[in-house]
Amino acid sequence: MKIAVTSASGKLGASIIQTLVKELGTNQVIGIARTPEKAKHLGVEVREGDYNNREQFDAALQGIDSVLLVSGMDDPQKRIIQHRNVIEAAKQNNVKKIVYTSIVGAEEGNAFSPIVQTNRQTEQDIINSGLDYVIGRNGIYIEPDLEYIDTYVKDGEIKNCAAEGICTYTSRAELGFAYAKMLLGNKHNGNVYNLVGNGITQHELTSLINQVYQTKLVYHSVSVKDYKADRIGALGEFLGTIIAGIYEGIKSGADDVPSDYKTAAGRSHKSTLEIIKDFYETNLNN
Ligand SMILES: NC(=O)c1ccc[n+]([C@@H]2O[C@H](COP(=O)([O-])OP(=O)(O)OC[C@H]3O[C@@H](n4cnc5c(N)ncnc54)[C@H](OP(=O)(O)O)[C@@H]3O)[C@@H](O)[C@H]2O)c1
Repeated sequence: MKIAVTSASGKLGASIIQTLVKELGTNQVIGIARTPEKAKHLGVEVREGDYNNREQFDAALQGIDSVLLVSGMDDPQKRIIQHRNVIEAAKQNNVKKIVYTSIVGAEEGNAFSPIVQTNRQTEQDIINSGLDYVIGRNGIYIEPDLEYIDTYVKDGEIKNCAAEGICTYTSRAELGFAYAKMLLGNKHNGNVYNLVGNGITQHELTSLINQVYQTKLVYHSVSVKDYKADRIGALGEFLGTIIAGIYEGIKSGADDVPSDYKTAAGRSHKSTLEIIKDFYETNLNN
C-alpha cells in the first residue's frame, strides 16, 4: 500500500509523514510538495505537486492507494479549484481513499468565515467524489501563540478580541498522530471528525503559558474593531483580517465544538498544558 501526503514541505504535512513512517517505514510513504527540496529531510520519496498544476498531480498520484490533502493557503476561491485538481487527479489515478484536513469554525458571521466556507465546499467535493474519504476539521493550532512568546513577554500581555470565548486548541503533533490513524484504518471511512483538544479561555491559556514559560503575562481583551485594525497594521489586509476573524470566531463560540479526537486517534487528545510543555521542550532542545 502506498500513501501520499501533500504539502509535505509544510509543518502539518511533515508531522503526518513522520507518524506514518513510524507505523509503516519509509517505502510506503510518499511526500508531495510544491517545493520538493524542502521535504527531502523527511527521508521518503518526494514528488512534485503544486495545487495549481493538475498535470503534476496526475503524475504524483500514480500508484497511490490513499492520499492526504492538506488544505491550501491561497485566497478562498482559488483554494476550491486547487483542491479539485487533487481530487480529480486522485479519481483519474484510481486512488481509493482521500483524507482531507479541513477546519473547525463558523460558515457565517466573522472575517474567517469565507475560509471556513471554502473548506466546507472541498468537504462536499470530496464526499461527491465517490472515493472512500475521511475528513478532519482541525482546531486552532497552539504553536503560533507559542512562537509569539517573545512579543508577549515584551508587551507583558496576550492581547486579542476572543474575550471569554472558549478555544479548543490542538497541535500539529496531535493532528499528525490522528491523521496517520485515519489514513490507515478503514473503520474511519465516511466520517467527519472534529480534531480538537479541551476548551479553554484566553485567561486560562495565559495562565498555562505562565506556568510553563515562568512568565507573568496577563490577558488583555480588546474590541473586535480595534484588534482587526491592530492586526491589519502588523500583518497586512489579507492575513490581519483572517487572524482577527479567528479570534472573533473564538469570542462567539465557533471553536467550542465537541471533540472526536479519541475516535479518530484511538487515544485521548493531550491536555493544553501537555501540548505547551511538549512545544517548550522540543524548542529548548533545538
Ligand atoms: N488550524 C490552524 O490553526 C491553522 C493555522 C494555520 C494554517 N492552517 C491550515 O493548515 C494548512 C497546513 O498548515 P501548516 O502548518 O503545514 O502550514 P505551513 O507550515 O505554513 O506550510 C504550508 C504548506 O502549504 C504549501 N503550499 C502553499 N501553497 C501551495 C500550493 N499552491 N501547492 C502546494 N502546496 C502549497 C507550502 O509549500 P511550500 O513549502 O512550497 O511553500 C507548505 O508546504 C494550511 O494550509 C492552512 O490551510 C491551519
